[in-house]
Amino acid sequence: MKQIIIEGKNKLSGTINIGGAKNSAVALIPAAIMADGVVKLSNVPRISDADALTAILKFLNVDVNFEEDKYTIDARNLQNNVIPEDLSTRLRASYYFMGALLARFKHVEIYFPGGCNIGARPIDLHLKGFEALGATVTKDENNSKYIIDAQELTGSDIHLDFASVGATINIMFAATLAKGVTKIYNAAQEVEIINIAELLNNMGANIKGAGTNVITIEGVEHLHSASVSVICDRIEAGTYLIMGALLGDNLKIMGIEPEYLQSLLDKFQKMNIKYDIIPGGIMISQTPSFLSTDVKTDVYPEFPTDLGQPMSVLLTQASGISHFEETIWESRMGHIKYLNMMGANIEVNGMKALIKGTTPLTGKEIVATDLRAGAALVTAGLIASGTTIINDAEHILRGYERIINKLSNVGAKIKIIDC
Ligand code: UD1
Repeated sequence: MKQIIIEGKNKLSGTINIGGAKNSAVALIPAAIMADGVVKLSNVPRISDADALTAILKFLNVDVNFEEDKYTIDARNLQNNVIPEDLSTRLRASYYFMGALLARFKHVEIYFPGGCNIGARPIDLHLKGFEALGATVTKDENNSKYIIDAQELTGSDIHLDFASVGATINIMFAATLAKGVTKIYNAAQEVEIINIAELLNNMGANIKGAGTNVITIEGVEHLHSASVSVICDRIEAGTYLIMGALLGDNLKIMGIEPEYLQSLLDKFQKMNIKYDIIPGGIMISQTPSFLSTDVKTDVYPEFPTDLGQPMSVLLTQASGISHFEETIWESRMGHIKYLNMMGANIEVNGMKALIKGTTPLTGKEIVATDLRAGAALVTAGLIASGTTIINDAEHILRGYERIINKLSNVGAKIKIIDC
C-alpha cells in the first residue's frame, strides 16, 4: 500500500506543466495494435494505467519502447493471445483491446475490465455495437471470459442509448476495419475522441465527425504506421486549477487548452474566482472568499464527472450552500465521509449532496477509495491544518502523473511512502 502524507496550508507558487490526457492515452495505446506497422505516440502521461496497458501489449507479443513521454509500438508480430483475467482487471481501459483485436483478427477473448469502483460499469453498449457489426458475443462456462467472434465485420447504423465514451471508441475501432460504412448516433463528444480518431485517420482510417454526436466510419482494409501527440489532460489541469483557487500564489497551469475546461471556468466566474488566461495556460491565485454554486456533472461539454470530486472540496470553502449532483456514476460520493471527518458539512442523498460552506478542514488519516476521490482528498489535505495521511494512494497514481513532484515543486509539503 502507498500512503500520501501532506502538511497542509502551504501556498502553491510557480508552474505546473500538464501531461497528456489519461483517457486519450489509454485508448491510443490499444489503438496502435491495429496498425500493421509502427505507431509513435508522444506526450503520453507516465501513469500506472499506461504501465498496465504496456503489460498487455507485451503479453500480445507487441514490441513496445518508451522514453520519457514517447511510446513506440510495433505490432507487426502481434499474437492474438487470450488476455488473462489478472491483466484485464488491472484497469478499465483493457476493454479497448476488445475493439482493437476484433478489428484486426475478427476474434478476441478477454475478461471483464477492472478500474475504479464508482458504481456498476456495464459494457453492454460496447457489445451491442460489436453485434451490430456482425460479431457474436458469448461467455465461457464460468461466465467471466468474453469470446467475441465474427466471420466478417460489416458497417451498420448504431444508435447508442447513452453517449458512452468507451462504447463510442470501441465501436470506432471495430468499424475502422469493417466492410462498408458505420454511423454511430448519439456518440460521445469528449475531446479525447477527436484525438483517437486523429491517430486512426493518420493510420489510414476514414473517420468523420469525431467530437460531434454522429461519427461516420468508412471501413478500410489496412492500417499503416503513423504518429500522434496525446492532447492535454483537462481533468489533471482542472484539479490543479481547483488547488490554485484555494492556495495559489500566481500559480501557472501550463500546456492546457482553456476551451476544454470551459465548464469549470464558467463555474469559477459564477463563484467570483479570479484567473487569467496567459499564453499556453492559466494563472490563478487564491481567492480569499468566493460564492457557493450548484454543480451537476454530465457528458461533455457539461461539467465532467471526473472533476466532480475535486470540485466538491472547493465547494466546502465557498460561502453558502452548494447543491452538487453526480449523474454518470452511482458511487461517486465515497470521499465525502472523509471530508466530513476533516470538518466539512456535507449531507449526501444518493447521487446528490448538499455542501455547506465555509468549513475549515483539519488533517486526518483517510482513504482514497478511487482515483478522483484520491485527487479530492489530496486537495483537502493541502488546505487542511496539520497532517493528512491518505491510505490506498496508489489509486491516485493511475491517473495523475508525478503528482508528488508536481505539487512539491510549487511549494506543497507532500510525500509518498510504501507501507
Ligand atoms: C470514461 C472515462 C471515465 C469517465 C467516463 C464518463 C476512460 C478510460 N474513462 O469511462 O474517466 O468518468 O468516461 O465521462 O475514458 N454505460 C452503460 N453501458 C455501457 C457503457 C456505459 O450503461 O456499455 C453507462 C455507465 O454505467 C455510465 C455511463 O454509461 O453510467 C458512462 O459510461 P462511459 O461513458 O462508457 O464511461 P467509460 O468509458 O467507462
